[in-house]
This record gives sequence, C-alpha cells and structure tokens, in this order.
Amino acid sequence: MLALEVKNITKVFNGKNGKDILANNDISLNIEEGKIYGLLGPNGAGKSTLINIISGIMLPAKGEVKVFGHDIVKETVKAKKTMGVVPQEIVTELAFTVEEILYYTSGMYGAGIGERKKLIDKVLDDLDLGDKRQERARNLSGGMKRRLMIAKAIIRRPKFLILDEPTSGVDVALRQKTWELVRRMNKEGTTILFTTHYIEEAEQLCEEISLVNHGEVVKQGRVSDIQREFTENEIVFELYDISAEQLPGVNKNGNEFQLPVHDLQVDMSKVIKHYGTNLKSVKSGAASLENIFLKLTAE
Ligand SMILES: Nc1ncnc2c1ncn2[C@@H]1O[C@H](COP(=O)(O)OP(=O)(O)OP(=O)(O)O)[C@@H](O)[C@H]1O
Ligand SMILES: [Mg+2]
Repeated sequence: MLALEVKNITKVFNGKNGKDILANNDISLNIEEGKIYGLLGPNGAGKSTLINIISGIMLPAKGEVKVFGHDIVKETVKAKKTMGVVPQEIVTELAFTVEEILYYTSGMYGAGIGERKKLIDKVLDDLDLGDKRQERARNLSGGMKRRLMIAKAIIRRPKFLILDEPTSGVDVALRQKTWELVRRMNKEGTTILFTTHYIEEAEQLCEEISLVNHGEVVKQGRVSDIQREFTENEIVFELYDISAEQLPGVNKNGNEFQLPVHDLQVDMSKVIKHYGTNLKSVKSGAASLENIFLKLTAE
C-alpha cells in the first residue's frame, strides 16, 4: 500500500513587487508503506512548502495528496490521524512544562488519563528527556526543544512520521539519536518522510529520494540507481608490480591504473582475476550523492 501519493502539486506564493514565487512546480512522488524517504534540496527549494501541503497546513494551487488513501483536502481528519509531523520551526507552548505539553498532546489524540502517563514515560525515555519532565519549554535549549517537538509528533505512534529538517542545528550526539529513533520506529512499521540538507543522512537512511531545486523535482528514485547513473565509469586500481602485463584498455595515471567500465560487476571480476594478489587496492568511482546533488543543483 502507498503511505503517500503526491500528484502534480503546484503552489504559488505572492512575492513582494507583485512577482509570483513558484514554490512547488508540478511535484509528484509516491512512498510505499514501511519505507524511509528523503526529500533533499538547497535552501528555498520548496521542501517545507511541500511538507506543509502534505500535512494539511497549506492548500496547493493544483494537485492532490493522499495519505494512506485519504485525500488530505477532502478527508482531512482521516488523513491527519495517520500522521505525526515535526515542523522545521519550533512551535510549542513555551509557558507549559514538558509533561503538561505531552499530556495535552496525547489527550488530543484520544488517549485516556491512565494511558497518557505510560505514553509520556515511553516518549521521554525515547528522547532522553526524562530529567526535563517538569521544565518549562521556554527554559529548554534549542536541541531539547527540537526533541520535545519530536516527542509531540511520535507520542501516539503514528503510522506515518514526517520530519522537516529534524537535525539542522542539533549536535552530533542528538543527530545520531534522532536517526536511531527513526530507524527503530521504521523497523516497528512507521513510514518516514524527512527533509535534510545533509546528504550523507539521506545516503545512510533511505532507499529512495527526491531531489528538488527551485520548486521542481530534478531527480527521483532509488539512491543506488541514482548513484549508478552518475558513477564515473571506471575502475581505479594500484599494483605492487607495475611491470605486470596489463589488461587491454587500461590507462596509467600516476601510481594508479584506470579501466573504463562497461559493466561494473563483469569488469571488476576481470580485474581481480587478471591481477590477483598483485592488486594493492581497487575501487570503482561511485559518485557520492553530494557530488550528484551539486551537479544537479548547479545554476
Ligand atoms: N508563506 C510564504 N509566503 C511567501 N513566500 C514563501 C512562503 N513560504 C515559502 N515561501 C517561498 O517559497 C520558496 C520555498 O520555500 P520553502 O520554505 O518551501 O523552502 P525549503 O526547501 O524548505 O528551504 P529550507 O531548506 O531553507 O528550509 C522560497 O522562495 C520561499 O521564500
Ligand atoms: Mg524548509
């Protein structure tokens, strides 16, 4: 089943000096239930706009969003029930304590009084916020506020969790923790959509991505397919004995040898078979997502 179906979403803002801003231009994407999906793009690409439309906060000019089959505009309540959303900006009730906020949030989703305490214990433990239970939100550090935002979104264990830049401005330890939590929730069955600037996060976490730039999808699909498409077509290797007989087509470049590749698997086994233990090192030029990203978003 599809957790998310985004079809031809277009969103226009009225910019200053009467110029329209095309924040989303005909964006489509699907997310299968159970996946972790990354939405990548530079500042202003239109990621948060799309997240706001998916989560029903903003109406598109054109297009359609379905969450677990429910249209976000026509069946808003049903669609929203499946979702937990962590927005990019920190929005929370600063005058209340962490516990009060979570008590209210879980109640809003229909948890009974006895159940709420259990849910709060669990989520505070998940996010290492136990010792801040009685702290007012305004006294939390930025990273802790972000953790509280995540806690609010996951307290009722949504089927679909959306995180808009959950790790921007947080320290390394919290970043790791956040991704551990995301992975764990995903293993337990939650579908995840997140946006990020950190390409290595997308590389590590998700199978599929959409890369957006200036409101448009410039690349979409499985990370491994995209990498393959942009792979520099060569195998690079070093030898202990450089006087060895070379395979046809091999070029020498400094200490390294290069072989243009037609089929990576076939050519790699050819190299290994031919040079055997004379191989000091061997690698194929798999483009990093970062290089692809830069290439595709270059003006
Ligand atoms: N409420 C609004 N009114 C007018 N323009 C807006 C509004 N919200 C977003 N925009 C514009 O739409 C474009 C896309 O913004 P958006 O916030 O979706 O980008 P983003 O990809 O989330 O960027 P970032 O990585 O910085 O969070 C930008 O040009 C932005 O200035
Ligand atoms: Mg954004």
